[in-house]
Formats: sequence, structure tokens, C-alpha cells
Amino acid sequence: MTAPHDAARPSPAAFEEPFTPDEDAVLQLHGVTVRRGAKDILAGVDWTVRAGERWIVMGPNGAGKSTLLQIAASRMFPTSGEVGILDEVLGAVDVFELRPRIGLSSALLANQVREEETVQDAVITASYGMTGRWREEYELEDRARALGLVSEWGLARLAHRRFGTLSEGERKRVLIARALMTDPELLLLDEPAAGLDLAGREALVAQLTALAEDEAAPATVLVTHHVEEVPPGFTHALLLSEGAAVAAGPLEETLTSERLSEAFGTALKVTRADGRYTAVAA
Ligand SMILES: Nc1ncnc2c1ncn2[C@@H]1O[C@H](COP(=O)(O)OP(=O)(O)O)[C@@H](O)[C@H]1O
Ligand SMILES: [Mg+2]
Repeated sequence: MTAPHDAARPSPAAFEEPFTPDEDAVLQLHGVTVRRGAKDILAGVDWTVRAGERWIVMGPNGAGKSTLLQIAASRMFPTSGEVGILDEVLGAVDVFELRPRIGLSSALLANQVREEETVQDAVITASYGMTGRWREEYELEDRARALGLVSEWGLARLAHRRFGTLSEGERKRVLIARALMTDPELLLLDEPAAGLDLAGREALVAQLTALAEDEAAPATVLVTHHVEEVPPGFTHALLLSEGAAVAAGPLEETLTSERLSEAFGTALKVTRADGRYTAVAA
């Protein structure tokens, strides 16, 4: 790789091992920093998600959670650091081949679904990105998968309703079904319970619990602000504060009063009953 005229003064980078993610990692961040102006939105984040794991990402507003998910979704590149996604390294792969392997649901994507699109179409069109162009032989298979997801996510009677007429809870479920359309190997959900009423939240938590328990389901990362939204069956948690990872590890060791208080910069008391968490000011 080193050009002949550089042979006398090779750059230090020439001697560095290329970044190779762990073999069982579906997502691996190594010293990831995102700088905007003078501010580090993410500051040297190390994080590994392995196959079969279900992660919660928590932290105050502005902690960098959505930025982290944008990177994990190969929709943003870090200012420095390395990112392994599935068996690829960000920067050394065509992201348009990688993206269909990643399911993403976020407020940003919700804005991209046209109001007049039907529920069924909003789900099925996620597969267009995968095939690149419409191919007749995929039509039946894609339709069957979309209908299956629509029904699994409790949207069967809404299949022909326009997206713009749906309640917030129904929209959130459409976005998750859409994220699952390409049968992704990594599922990223950015605040899927935001804006839901109590019944809607509980219905979503129940569905995410079922997903967490499904061994065939992809490795999942769920961003949330509330410990009450943590579905039983999730295995790990990452706590972010001002762009830095303040804790990461098995859920029960991470979602503790001490760690959460540190991440949110306020004294909190966390309790757990029947697999569900609650947090209140201490
Ligand atoms: N393009 C940008 N330029 C400058 N600041 C940004 C940009 N995008 C995000 N930020 C800031 O970075 C911080 C982290 O944002 P974000 O990842 O959305 O946090 P979270 O999802 O945890 O609330 C916020 O303070 C936000 O204002
Ligand atoms: Mg966010």
C-alpha cells in the first residue's frame, strides 16, 4: 500500500494492524468519536454487540444515543475510530449493500414515509432497497412477508389504511414491521415507545418481549429514556452520558441505582419486579 516515494518515511499508520472486528460481533465500535464544531457528540466509545444479544441504550437527552444508532446503521461515519457492522468495516464497504442487512426504526425515518402510503406498502417498500429495482419474481415472496409482518405487529385490519391516518402507536408498529421487512441481521430501534399512551406502551413492550425471546430474531438495540420500557428478555445495557459510555454490560449489573444516577446526573432509585424496571428520584 505504501507508495515507493514514502518508503523512507512511512506513516505510523502503515504499521498499525487493520481493524478486524471480533468474529461473534454483529456491531463493534472502537474509540468512536463524532465531533461537531468544538463538541464531541460521541467521545471515544468502545462497544460490542454480539450475536443473540438484546441491548438497551439509555442516557439523558443529548447524550448521543441517536448519533450512536446512526453510526450503527451505517448512515453516519465517525470523525475518528473504527466501526465493524456485521462482517464488514465501515469505510471499507459499500453501505448500500450493508443497509438492507440492518433494520432501523427512528423518528427521522418516520418522516420519510409518505402520509398517503398504505400500511402494507410502507412495510413492503423497505425491500425495494434490497433488490435495488423491482423484480417480478420477488413480488409474491415480498407480499407474503409483508402481510405476515403486518399481522404479527397487530396491523392486519389496518393493512390498507393510509399511514397519515394512523395513531402514534400504530405508526410505531408499522415502522418496526418495516424495519424487519428485509429480514435484517441487526435491528436498531430508536425510542419506539416515544409518544405512546400507557396501553400503547405496554402493548409495544409485550411485542418487544416476544421478539427478544424469539431465537431467530436479529441482535437488537433499543434506545429508550425510560426503564419502564425495558422489555423482559433484553440482556445488556449501555449507558451514555455526554457522548461517553459510562457503563456497559449485562442488564442487571448495569441498570442499577448507582449507574443510572451517574448517567443521568441525579440521584435515582431503581427497582425491579416481575422482570420490569421502575426508576424514581432517590
Ligand atoms: N449535526 C449536528 N451538529 C451539531 N450538533 C449536533 C448535530 N447532531 C446532533 N447534535 C447534538 O449532539 C448531541 C447528541 O445528539 P443525539 O445523538 O440526538 O442525542 P440523543 O439521541 O441522546 O438525545 C445533542 O446535543 C445534539 O444537539
Ligand atoms: Mg435521540
